[in-house]
Amino acid sequence: MEPADLMTNSMTQSTHAALITGASGGIGAATARQLAAQGRPVVLLGRRAPELLAVAKQIQDQGGTAHAVPGDVTQEDSVAEAIKAAEDLGGLQTLVANAGIMPLAPLEESDLNIWRQTVDVNLSGLLHCVHASLPLMLKQKRGDIILISSVAGRQTFPEASVYCATKAAVTHFGDCLRVDLARRASEGGGHLRVGVVEPGIVMTELVDSIPHAPMRSAVEKFVNSVEEPLQPEDVAETIAWMVNAPPHVSINDVVIRPTAMTR
Ligand SMILES: NC(=O)c1ccc[n+]([C@@H]2O[C@H](COP(=O)([O-])OP(=O)(O)OC[C@H]3O[C@@H](n4cnc5c(N)ncnc54)[C@H](OP(=O)(O)O)[C@@H]3O)[C@@H](O)[C@H]2O)c1
Repeated sequence: MEPADLMTNSMTQSTHAALITGASGGIGAATARQLAAQGRPVVLLGRRAPELLAVAKQIQDQGGTAHAVPGDVTQEDSVAEAIKAAEDLGGLQTLVANAGIMPLAPLEESDLNIWRQTVDVNLSGLLHCVHASLPLMLKQKRGDIILISSVAGRQTFPEASVYCATKAAVTHFGDCLRVDLARRASEGGGHLRVGVVEPGIVMTELVDSIPHAPMRSAVEKFVNSVEEPLQPEDVAETIAWMVNAPPHVSINDVVIRPTAMTR
């Protein structure tokens, strides 16, 4: 076996936990299932307790270790509880900051509270999770932070300026954080990696977070116009590939689109 294989295996078989936010459905639930199937204990954070518990039970029924923490990424105490659960499962190896909403509306009908909520969940909530994870990861001198951004962070979509702005901020934050953590590594700080994932269209419940009915229909039409959109498992496999890379390999930014998506 090559040294790189040994390192991959040691990362894969780590008993350190992964915390996945927004794990009650979609990309987060698929990622939790994928990482748990590879032997990682997983902590699931999301607001809808029944859905979250169902994902945890599914993982446990398959022989995995899963702990559900019903809570909200905008609330620091929820995030602290999830981090504590990961510590109790052997330490936080991986944070997948995935929770997000996309409550689009035409500019003329946009509500400032909805703009605030989009920033609160997609950006501030993500920052809460990263901020709460850093002390542990810096102490352990190893860890992976995966931030779920979007192609909306690099291109424009109609009536989606605030959502796009939050995703652009997530992508740039991830790249800056990567450099800060890499500097610690070069000073003997171990392996602390940051990866950003920018998916195109994935078949999930995200469109349901659009309260404006005509806008929701328009986005549904756009989503359905793409032949063979991504499934949550496609993104989950990408995340698993990133965190299972040998420790000296840092996969920083992955754009993943359905093959038929033209923009
Ligand atoms: N689907 C796509 O086409 C697509 C494309 C690019 C990027 N993304 C990004 O991928 C991520 C996951 O979305 P998805 O597509 O899997 O959609 P989804 O099925 O709607 O999942 C979103 C998850 O976020 C959770 N969530 C929302 N607000 C939360 C909060 N305040 N606190 C904790 N959890 C919260 C939801 O759970 P609860 O409601 O139970 O809290 C849910 O589990 C998002 O960041 C999204 O922007 C999606």
